[in-house]
Amino acid sequence: MRTQVAIIGAGPAGLLLGQLLAQSGVQSVILEARTRSYIENRVRAGVLEHQTAAVIEAVGAGARLAREGLRHHGVELVFSHQAHRIDFDALTGKAMTIYGQQEVVKDLIAVRVAAGLPLLFEVADVKLGGLDSDFPQVSFTHESVEQILECDFIAGCDGFHGICRPSIPAGLLRVFERVYPYAWLGILAEAPPMGEIIYARHENGFALHSLRSPTITRLYLQCAPDEPLERWPDARIWDELQRRLTVPGGPRLNEGPILQKSVTPMRSFVVEPMQYGRLFLAGDSAHIVPPTGAKGMNQAAADVNRAFVEFFKRGSAAALRSYSSACLDRVWKVQRFSRMMTDLLHLNPTDSPFDTRCREAELAYLATSAAGAATFAENYVGLPVP
Ligand code: APR
Ligand code: PHB
Repeated sequence: MRTQVAIIGAGPAGLLLGQLLAQSGVQSVILEARTRSYIENRVRAGVLEHQTAAVIEAVGAGARLAREGLRHHGVELVFSHQAHRIDFDALTGKAMTIYGQQEVVKDLIAVRVAAGLPLLFEVADVKLGGLDSDFPQVSFTHESVEQILECDFIAGCDGFHGICRPSIPAGLLRVFERVYPYAWLGILAEAPPMGEIIYARHENGFALHSLRSPTITRLYLQCAPDEPLERWPDARIWDELQRRLTVPGGPRLNEGPILQKSVTPMRSFVVEPMQYGRLFLAGDSAHIVPPTGAKGMNQAAADVNRAFVEFFKRGSAAALRSYSSACLDRVWKVQRFSRMMTDLLHLNPTDSPFDTRCREAELAYLATSAAGAATFAENYVGLPVP
């Protein structure tokens, strides 16, 4: 087999890149380790920045998003038992769209399959070779047959646990990492959501109210990284969500059957550079953020750019040469914002009473000063993509 760009991983990064290349007449083959149904049903984040939604539409996968995505014009911040609204529309003129990551994945797979473009599921033993030569290749097993895919470039879009990043020789990447001493217990509930996304900082810990549809609510609670789910029967979850997310005299959350429960660890991670020879990393394979602020999928989409198209269609390698530094410039701004939101809203066991008061004061500044709210809103709706 031969192609121009071998894409490893069919998450948002790999699938978006495949579409962008196809639109410009650049060939690609996408290799995915899991089954189609697994990746189409894996529940993850679901908040799209203005420009992520625009890119999905631009690559021809936006019809259902336009119909079913829920437009969101602001968020609520709850702390010190009071609620404050940050109005993105008024502050930035931009809105967010709520639409599950697995729905984005379904729509991108559907357009690729409809166009008859190569996307192989359940590939195993993926190995990269010749990365520092002009003839890279990918070996893998598909339907029990060993195959070699020759290509001009490899796009490493295989997530945090993938094989692309570890295929770069030891010592060439600089790793930056921060692990948090807490995690999120997430639930999906069959209950009508409140109007908006609500972030809460409470004496008992962080909580978040989000949504997926007019009848499905997505909720999270701060918990320990090794939290046993057995300690969280449904009644305790609802009790704690009501306590942390509602304010005296304000509306209560609608409760309903819990459809899914899971614990999400929290980590900040970046490697530099995002390229080695003919391998280019994009999305979670190169960086991850803690989920506060929902930036993971959006930064994965922001990494996907026209560098390969410039090379094949205009004969210019300039965008490939600056790919890593251009991505990292935005990656670090997003890391900074995700860490700030995470630190501000969670209870950190090592915080002193002084730290706690400073975090409350910073939240009050963001929520009540026009300059503070504008900074928050600019980052939340999404920084420009280079
Ligand atoms: N070979 C082929 N595919 C692989 C391999 C491998 N060795 N290892 C992993 N994969 C696949 C995974 O099964 C997954 O479908 O690569 C895909 C990577 O997709 P994501 O993890 O969704 O990563 P990305 O496209 O960068 O999107 C980032 O995902 O984790 C969330 O919060 C994160 O929203 C962010 C988004
Ligand atoms: C979600 O809807 O899953 C979500 C929303 C906001 C966040 C994180 C996750 O900050």
